[in-house]
Amino acid sequence: MGNRTITLTDNSTGKSIELPLLEGTAGAPVLDVRSLNKELGCFTFDPGFKATASCESTITYLDGAKGELMYRGYPIEQLAEHCSFLEVCYLLLHGDLPNKDEKDTFVDEIRYHTMINEGLRTFLSGFRYDAHPMAMMTGVIGSLSAFYHDSLNLNDPEQRMTTAHRLIAKIPTIAAATYKHSIGEPVLYPRNDLSYTGNFLYMMWGRPTEPYEPDPVAEQALDVLFLLHADHEQNASTSTVRLAGSSQTNPFGAIAAGTASLWGPAHGGANEAVLRMLDEIGSVDNIDKFVARAKDKNDPFRLMGFGHRVYKNFDPRAKIIKKMAHRVLQDYGDDPRMELALRLEEIALKDDYFVSRKLYPNVDFYSGIIYQALGFPYEMFTVLFAIGRTVGWISHWMEMVSDPKMVIGRPRQLYTGAARRDVPPIESR
Ligand code: ACO
Repeated sequence: MGNRTITLTDNSTGKSIELPLLEGTAGAPVLDVRSLNKELGCFTFDPGFKATASCESTITYLDGAKGELMYRGYPIEQLAEHCSFLEVCYLLLHGDLPNKDEKDTFVDEIRYHTMINEGLRTFLSGFRYDAHPMAMMTGVIGSLSAFYHDSLNLNDPEQRMTTAHRLIAKIPTIAAATYKHSIGEPVLYPRNDLSYTGNFLYMMWGRPTEPYEPDPVAEQALDVLFLLHADHEQNASTSTVRLAGSSQTNPFGAIAAGTASLWGPAHGGANEAVLRMLDEIGSVDNIDKFVARAKDKNDPFRLMGFGHRVYKNFDPRAKIIKKMAHRVLQDYGDDPRMELALRLEEIALKDDYFVSRKLYPNVDFYSGIIYQALGFPYEMFTVLFAIGRTVGWISHWMEMVSDPKMVIGRPRQLYTGAARRDVPPIESR
């Protein structure tokens, strides 16, 4: 940490305070305002946290201007090329990549936890068949605390790690079960002879009556997609997990809160919204009309899969996913929506509205095309995001609760409601 400070002066009293600027390993320094209320009697105001660092973290770094993303210091492009999703899970949880033995032990540990309690299957069958899978995911993940209460002691590092392993292992089983429930097929037990992602594909597409082997192209593509979604520092759902977890609630409850946040169309729900938008656009001839709508301030329509709070340059994940979409479509057949997406990107990136606001395709723009090619219904897209992001949520939760200085998250507000008044008798209201 450096010695830079910023001096703030209250013009009405002339009182000044010097606030330290804290320097991290990379990125802009942050102004430490913790003494502000005590010294000047005021708070900061920053709805949407557009200028606020909510915590200190060692997990993920992203540079929005350069379009750079790193997990524990490793660039996302290198991880996507050289590592499996489970290696990246280990990296996020433990701080460094596993060696061969550590990897084997970790993979075994995850395999050991892939089954879900039979009671959870009964619980799941109580949902309406047409419930959105994210609604079921939120409910079932929250209910895990009612099944696995032997690992809820936040102060025990071993129990925390067991919870992490359980969540990473069981999320694909729960995700596939929500799908099977929605189509009325039997929920399959995991197959631990397959890879993490291969087993998920089996639980999605397999049937008890027929043999099933996952397609290596689908397995590889999905594994990389999980890896690319694994973490993204203090995004809305991760911040939700941290805030919920800061009350020392159980981790399953905190992760369920994050899952609910992810579902929104401004966040992980955007991948589903992109495909619906491409369907609505329908043909290249209609692109101009939709681009005009996106630019019209009186129209709530936005180009889904475009723009990002932090990236003001190409989202590095979108670059990898775009390349992968081409590869998957080679095997699974052309999708006219790919052509549409490419044209839309080309047109938008030449348009001054998008250029001046630095709106580029984000992670969700091309991922849906791959999911669709692999056979996933739209409703499952955000569930796939949740499978990848679970390790990020749990890594942030572990980082937070293992910090002895953890405090409950409790923001303040600018109150603009009625001033103090007396309650009138009911006859005169
Ligand atoms: N289409 C059209 N205009 C847009 C879009 C878009 N997709 N995104 C932002 N803008 C415009 C806004 O209208 C605003 O214009 P103005 O300055 O003239 O008022 C300007 O760009 C800045 O937008 P904000 O909403 O202030 O940016 P913010 O950082 O708050 O929002 C967000 C980021 C929510 C991602 C936004 O770009 C958006 O809604 N995108 C579409 C949804 C989407 O793809 N979400 C997924 C994000 S990635 C993820 O969560 C995994």
